[in-house]
Amino acid sequence: MIKFPDGFLWGAAASAPQTEGHSLLNGKSATTWDKWFEMNPEKFNDNQGPQDTSNTYEMYQEDVENMQKIGMNSYRTSISWARLLPDGKTLNPEAVGFYRSYFQDMLDHGVEPIINLFHFDMPWWLMEKGGWKARESVDDFAFYAKTAFEQFGDLVKRWTTFNEPIVHIECGYLLGFHYPAIVDFKKAVQVGYHTLMAHVCAVKAFRESGVDGQIGIILNVSPAYSRSDSKEDMKAKNASDLLSIYSFLDPAVLGKTPSELISLLKENELLPYVDAGDSALIKKNTVDFIGLNYYQPNRVMAPENPITPAKTPEDLFAPYDWPDKKINPYRGWEIYPKALYDVAIMMRDKYHNIPWYVSENGMGVADEGRYKDDNGVIDDQYRIEFIKEHLEYLHKGIEEGSNCFGYHLWTFVDCWSWLNGYRNRYGLFSVDLDNDFKRTIKSSGKWFKELSENNGF
Ligand code: BG6
Repeated sequence: MIKFPDGFLWGAAASAPQTEGHSLLNGKSATTWDKWFEMNPEKFNDNQGPQDTSNTYEMYQEDVENMQKIGMNSYRTSISWARLLPDGKTLNPEAVGFYRSYFQDMLDHGVEPIINLFHFDMPWWLMEKGGWKARESVDDFAFYAKTAFEQFGDLVKRWTTFNEPIVHIECGYLLGFHYPAIVDFKKAVQVGYHTLMAHVCAVKAFRESGVDGQIGIILNVSPAYSRSDSKEDMKAKNASDLLSIYSFLDPAVLGKTPSELISLLKENELLPYVDAGDSALIKKNTVDFIGLNYYQPNRVMAPENPITPAKTPEDLFAPYDWPDKKINPYRGWEIYPKALYDVAIMMRDKYHNIPWYVSENGMGVADEGRYKDDNGVIDDQYRIEFIKEHLEYLHKGIEEGSNCFGYHLWTFVDCWSWLNGYRNRYGLFSVDLDNDFKRTIKSSGKWFKELSENNGF
């Protein structure tokens, strides 16, 4: 039997835009997702836009009861900035009422709400000013964060500023999966820098608010593994880790951007504009804990014909097709559980063993209806296996001293996945989009109850 430390968090993660629905109702203003869907619905799987998602806005009480039923002791979701402050300044009382009852309900059912502030859902009014590209976004975000701490600080004891900042940077400014879907490495770096400063200023606002609790940030971690240990391949690995992991983890935990990253950006003429006083702010406002979302590693090799200065990250590290990889064919992501052990050891050795948790891990599968048993329950044994394999490696890391305090699955109830709509399902409960969003537990949901009751498996 694998046992986890006492008080271990067992739960799941989701976000406001992917679950709430009521996207343009109850006083919420549009985000880039609402607008992009309005402009280009054909980009979204089956024309599934952000308007309804999983209807948590109406169904949160049932959801919270289900959380308790399957033994979840914690749940991470986000507040929608565009719902709380529709024009960035004016508080929406309906939003305050909704979130207060939702969080209180969780507390009443023994589920700790861990609340995140930004999950890829840029308000449209801010995008019109340039989004994270504009320095004023930093102050706008700090004001939003302060408002959230004031309104919900009595209910929420663990806050996070951003979910996976690297993703909105990459997907919006390098890969075309998020609005504004442009390819511009230099802009991507500037957007990243302002996101970092927005995070730092939100941490500052938290410390100044006097609210009791802790604050952290959630980062996606895709540790790089190189084709070989040749000097060139190792350089590629290092560039990948610098850009995608250390760029946020170092300033968030250690209060400093790595000097190697600064040199890399300089060599490639990518240095962002910074304000005097930023480094002091970064140094002072480090976090209490870290959340790490782990899905897949990054297999890399030295690029064959790199351009300097780099036009895209692939000029610094090229993708390597590892012949032994195991793939989740629906999402196209490699399944490599051992990376969780490597990550655990990295947190122990490189980040002074700061408390951290697995804030997302999970497996998206298409067309899950085919796995229904005679009782209409999706028998997702593959998901149970996936979780077990990852937990085994996580446990090994904890046994060797890593300070991990929880595991959250992505996700609790099937939710909307950006351009992928409802194609891949991740939940412990399914959602029937043709039947009033009816929730039905899957085999993994039943198994999760045993997992949390036994604090292991
Ligand atoms: C994480 C995000 O990167 O992965 C979630 O925080 C996302 O928002 C999840 O839904 C799964 O990825 P996808 O693209 O299949 O939805």
